[in-house]
Amino acid sequence: MKVLLVGGGGREHALAWKLHSDDPAIELIAAPGNPGIAEHARCAPVAATDIPAVLALAERERPDLTVVGPEAPLAAGIVDSFRERGLPIFGPTAAAARIESSKSFAKQMMREAGVPTAGAVVTSDVEQARSAVRKHGAPVVIKATGLAAGKGVVVARSIEEADAAIDRILGDRSLGEAGSEILVEEFMAGEELSLFVLTDGTTAIPMMPAQDHKRLLEGDAGPNTGGMGAYAPVSLGTPALVAEVMEKIIHPSLLWMRENGAAFNGLLYAGLMITADGPKVVEFNCRFGDPETQALLPLLASPLLPLLQGAADRPDESELRWQTGASVTTVVAAAGYPDSPRTGDELTIPRVADNVHVFHAGTARDAVGRLVSAGGRVLSITALGADVGAAAASSREVAQQVSLEGKQLRRDIGWRALWK
Ligand code: AMP
Ligand code: GLY
Repeated sequence: MKVLLVGGGGREHALAWKLHSDDPAIELIAAPGNPGIAEHARCAPVAATDIPAVLALAERERPDLTVVGPEAPLAAGIVDSFRERGLPIFGPTAAAARIESSKSFAKQMMREAGVPTAGAVVTSDVEQARSAVRKHGAPVVIKATGLAAGKGVVVARSIEEADAAIDRILGDRSLGEAGSEILVEEFMAGEELSLFVLTDGTTAIPMMPAQDHKRLLEGDAGPNTGGMGAYAPVSLGTPALVAEVMEKIIHPSLLWMRENGAAFNGLLYAGLMITADGPKVVEFNCRFGDPETQALLPLLASPLLPLLQGAADRPDESELRWQTGASVTTVVAAAGYPDSPRTGDELTIPRVADNVHVFHAGTARDAVGRLVSAGGRVLSITALGADVGAAAASSREVAQQVSLEGKQLRRDIGWRALWK
């Protein structure tokens, strides 16, 4: 069995680790991978977004399955290219990936499918956006429609803050074409939950809900990031809530996608706000979440590969089993993250116990083979424990022992589970 893994972050390291630990005989190839992934896979110096090069690699290696981690190659049509050549691949087509790559498309889908989400005005006009903000009042959320690596959303507490975001994203094109159109969106109050669903487009099986920590600083303060930590299980994510989300959100969305020539195959990630009126969609993503994947996969008792292969044809819920206990992931980020992460700093990882996994995200080897930082989020430290408190303590302890100048981490991952 040969698997090609596209990507080179913490999520892909967790995928590589899980596939390898399920079956060490699986031959793994990563494009491009990272020094952590290199412990389980052969890394090819091919960028995840260079679709012709990934395709050439796949035609040479003939993997039994290709698994795509990040959204950019999915949005650019890597699945379409592979399918045209008869190469098996896990993930949605470009048309289906619009559920993430175009927030205006996702909003239209949800509106037409009757899926609960925040009301929004979609516009490319600064004046129209400003007037929508005034009509709505603060707080209000300004979102770039396109892919912006976590930088496209501003939760504005005041009209002035909303105006500044409109000027920056739409006026100055600070995010390039991703911000050629924006959403002025109703603010939803509540607790967030991430739900991953494996689907062939019709049959859908939910994984265990997890909770991300999007803000940079402890106490959920500071700017939004790609995610500073995650944990599972989440007490809010009861079987009844998951059933409600499947019925009111996932199935109507999948049906609309099928009926509109964009059947969604692969992993659908619903970013939810659990409001006083029930669950509503904050966003959809067309791939595994980062860092939720690093928290979830060590808790997954069943092997991953059959689940990924099942997404092509009738995924089977009986193949999804979880360990007891809890998992907490703490992200170690570089100085300057998220605005301008510093790279090239030497990195030392402590020895860890069996219940702890150190997943590499933004790491590289320098010219003399030393491990150095190479991105904003550098490591994800996942610990398993009897409960969220025990897992959080181990994860935090190891994250604090990582030596990286100017490192940033949150010591309060899982706080909602611990402070209640
Ligand atoms: P997104 O990239 O759409 O997931 O947005 C990033 C983060 O911004 C979310 O995880 C939420 O914390 C916050 N956010 C986005 N949209 C809303 C909304 N309509 N109401 C409240 N918070 C939001
Ligand atoms: N954890 C947020 C994301 O993967 O987009």
